[in-house]
Amino acid sequence: MSYHWLKIFESKEDVEQYVQLGTLINFQLRGEKIVVTKTEKGLFAFGDKCPHNGASLSQGFCTKKNEIVCPLHRYSFDLESGKATSGGAFAIKTYPIEFKSNGVYVGIKAKWWEA
Ligand code: FES
Repeated sequence: MSYHWLKIFESKEDVEQYVQLGTLINFQLRGEKIVVTKTEKGLFAFGDKCPHNGASLSQGFCTKKNEIVCPLHRYSFDLESGKATSGGAFAIKTYPIEFKSNGVYVGIKAKWWEA
């Protein structure tokens, strides 16, 4: 599987210094709405659209159990696996994050015709 790696922060230090725990930051990368958040377990990226009924997850909040909670019907999703931890068999789209020497990157899967 090949990825497009897109820089979202200049360095790991920037993330440590400027990103507060639980803050939800919106990015639009290659046409995809992506939310990035920092928790006790690290940095996570996921699709903004709730798989239940399309609400914007960036309007929700993170829990101490490393979940994002949707603002509309309060379903929650594990930030690591993307799987719902309440509300049914839904899953959010998750994106890998990589800390490289020249920045922090989010990976978006290349489409089959780009690979
Ligand atoms: S739209 Fe997110 S839980 Fe219903």
